[in-house]
Amino acid sequence: MATLKLLSFLILQIFCILEVANSQGVELGFYKKTCPNVEAIVKQTTAHYISRAPTLAAPLLRMHFHDCFVRGCDGSVLLNSTKGNQAEKDAIPNQSLRGFQVIDAAKSALEKECPGIVSCSDILALAARDAVELINGPTWAVPLGRRDGRVSILLDALKNLPTPFDNFTTLKTTFGSLGLNVKDLVVLSGGHTIGMSHCFSFSSRLYNFTGKGDMDPNMDQNYIGRLKIKCKSGDVTTIVEMDPGSFKSFDTDYYTMVSKRRGLFASDAALLTDSQTKAYVLSQVNPYGSTFFKDFGESMIKMGKIGVLTGKAGEIRKHCAFRN
Ligand code: HEM
Ligand SMILES: *[C@@H]1O[C@H](CO)[C@@H](O)[C@H](O)[C@H]1NC(C)=O
Ligand SMILES: *[C@@H]1O[C@H](CO)[C@@H](O)[C@H](O)[C@H]1NC(C)=O
Ligand SMILES: *[C@@H]1O[C@H](CO)[C@@H](O)[C@H](O)[C@H]1NC(C)=O
Ligand SMILES: *[C@@H]1O[C@H](CO)[C@@H](O)[C@H](O)[C@H]1NC(C)=O
Repeated sequence: MATLKLLSFLILQIFCILEVANSQGVELGFYKKTCPNVEAIVKQTTAHYISRAPTLAAPLLRMHFHDCFVRGCDGSVLLNSTKGNQAEKDAIPNQSLRGFQVIDAAKSALEKECPGIVSCSDILALAARDAVELINGPTWAVPLGRRDGRVSILLDALKNLPTPFDNFTTLKTTFGSLGLNVKDLVVLSGGHTIGMSHCFSFSSRLYNFTGKGDMDPNMDQNYIGRLKIKCKSGDVTTIVEMDPGSFKSFDTDYYTMVSKRRGLFASDAALLTDSQTKAYVLSQVNPYGSTFFKDFGESMIKMGKIGVLTGKAGEIRKHCAFRN
């Protein structure tokens, strides 16, 4: 009898622990009762914009990445600067972070349907997923229930985001400190199969790699020649396609480019300097044997759980660019 009591007590304990663990995380179907059409509304809005401007998919994906890497996925990347505070948005000079209007439009549609319910960080996670699918990429189920942070500081972005100049060790450490492993690093870097980059993010590889007017020996010399035509030394305005020819289509081309030493950033090239990431890059080159789409969904779900605010933490913003 006593053992039975102890047993039921233990089982109750375990349920309580599970309950707490659950309420602290994001979950599938979080808005099932409070805003059942949330996914349809975000998808419709995202599709509306991307059908007119397919290049918007890339900045939406990147925005979710930046959101999660800086203070956790809390929508802080969406906040505007205020007097006396430069927000994360200001991090990159003339940055290519665009697509805020998509999030704002989805938010206002959702505020009509179910006011005060859906967080901006959740909208961003959904829009990033929908954007990828709309340009022929994979899709995945997004656990929801994030809440919005009240703080956005420029310095946090500068400190926490990986730079295009990072080597493998630094990248591994940055990702690792957020709970992402080496596989997540090589898989999520595949996000560079879409989008554009400013010349300044890689021009040191073309013109002044070690400060002696030299080129990066780890980049295909023919490719350097072609990039130099587009990017003159000191150019701060020109942008180029990261995956030339298919920068609007989500595919495995990124790995082909990296394997040919045509990855644009030193951080892309760094994936060839570690045996595990190199093996992954080479294994994705043949699209028929590729696991990239499945892997990408899994790593995006993991990334989307970094430092989330749930339960009573944070707030549900009324407007994504401003705290309430
Ligand atoms: C591994 C570390 C990473 C570094 C160092 C890095 C760096 C960069 C840089 C420098 C740019 C170009 C910015 C510019 O010059 O305008 C860029 C663009 C981009 N990044 Fe990354 N990134 C990383 C990881 C990721 C991840 C994890 C994702 C998403 C899963 C991502 C998605 C993108 C996209 C889609 C673009 C194109 C944006 C556009 O066209 O507007 N990146 N990244
Ligand atoms: C917020 O900042 C964005 C640029 O990041 C700007 O386009 C927008 O007009 C700002 N919104 C408001 C309401 O000030
Ligand atoms: C990687 O970069 C860091 C920071 O710049 C540097 O301290 C380290 O020595 C580099 N590691 C390798 C293996 O080059
Ligand atoms: C190359 O880098 C070195 C060291 O950072 C700098 O002194 C030099 O001015 C640079 N040269 C050019 C052409 O940018
Ligand atoms: C930003 O863009 C403006 C105009 O396009 C240009 O004059 C300026 O040099 C750029 N600044 C940086 C840091 O890229």
